[in-house]
Amino acid sequence: MTDSLPARWLPNPGAQRSDTYPAVDEILPRGISRLTRSFHRQIPGYKISPLKSLPRLADMLGVGGIWVKDESARLTLNSFKVLGGSFAIYRTIQRRLGMEHLELPFTELMSDPIRAQLGDLTFAAATDGNHGKGVAWAAHALGFKSVIYVHKATSAARIKAIEANGARVVVVDGTYDDAVRQVTVDAEREGWQVISDTSWEGYADIPRWVMQGYTTLLNEAQEQLAAQGIIRPTHVLAQAGVGALAAATIGFYSQLFGAERPINVVVEPEKAACLYRSIEIGDGQPHSFPGDLDTIMAGLACGDPSPIAWDILRSCADVFLSCPDYVAAKGMRVYAVPLAGDPFIVSGESGAVTLGALMFTLERPELADLKAALRLDRDSQILLINSEGNTDPNHFRRIVWDGLVNVPAAYKEKF
Ligand SMILES: Cc1ncc(COP(=O)(O)O)c(C=O)c1O
Repeated sequence: MTDSLPARWLPNPGAQRSDTYPAVDEILPRGISRLTRSFHRQIPGYKISPLKSLPRLADMLGVGGIWVKDESARLTLNSFKVLGGSFAIYRTIQRRLGMEHLELPFTELMSDPIRAQLGDLTFAAATDGNHGKGVAWAAHALGFKSVIYVHKATSAARIKAIEANGARVVVVDGTYDDAVRQVTVDAEREGWQVISDTSWEGYADIPRWVMQGYTTLLNEAQEQLAAQGIIRPTHVLAQAGVGALAAATIGFYSQLFGAERPINVVVEPEKAACLYRSIEIGDGQPHSFPGDLDTIMAGLACGDPSPIAWDILRSCADVFLSCPDYVAAKGMRVYAVPLAGDPFIVSGESGAVTLGALMFTLERPELADLKAALRLDRDSQILLINSEGNTDPNHFRRIVWDGLVNVPAAYKEKF
């Protein structure tokens, strides 16, 4: 068997460059990131996550700058995901109280009159690990119960981490997408409130709030980049499972810079490349990726795109990449053992794939056409999101310490 190329890529024929992007404005109303950030700021323990620069690596690879928004320690949960779940829970509660247009301070949510009005609420979610942990954490912080559905390939460490945040965990015999379907059915029967990070026909408000919640990290990143004299990243590489993070990121930057938006790239695992497949089919609709989604990038192991995320990506993403697991593993190792002078970053499988993809694109002759299509050069200022830290410690060590998932000989650097 021949080894997969480090990236298969497709340009998006529907990519637009214009002053406005209606699909973005619909899901991310202008100014939303200021609102979400002021909400998150009220959460005890909230801190701006660091934006890290890798100047030595950028120099070695021949680009102007590599900037990594490092979500590996967000609210002690090791991933950005809690930003979405917490904001969606907040907005759901506001709606239940009929207080959608009022500012409701976070602390107010725990006051006796509000609790009495809300009654006994249980929040439910399906997850690859991180979203469920975020929902469990936010529900627990507010004194509510949660039930989190995981699929059968979820590691024991990920399940334990969700339980540690007060949730009951249900294991579904299937994939992430099966867990999404099952939690919806069970929640209907049990009267639970589903907080999903993916959307479907008739269920878009909550996943929209989840996506809005993610913009806090982008609002922070933009401020941090500006403080470094970078007005606008020239390139954004965003990893995707159902596509909500990528769409929030790419949508945020497209809205902010209009026709001057960055070149936007979506990166997926080759075993779960539902957005790539949707571009490949090319009828403008989102399509599922078949199979058992067997990838080390657990957070990206999603077979069904989120339709509201797809709406943004199909108009604002320029290129879609599908990458084998060794690309993520390489990214993890480079983050963990940086060039002298660059900061060390703890990055899990789903967090590191964009760095791996960037490196292979810049270094491998097989991807020279991709590098040219992306116009990557010494003037490029590239933004990546390290979307998770060490969320599965055993697996992290197997990859980083023991060299699991090695780069095939054909694509290794020749020293
Ligand atoms: C660490 C990490 N990165 C990225 C993603 C992708 O997010 P989305 O499913 O919104 O595409 C996830 C999703 O769970 C994740 O856990």
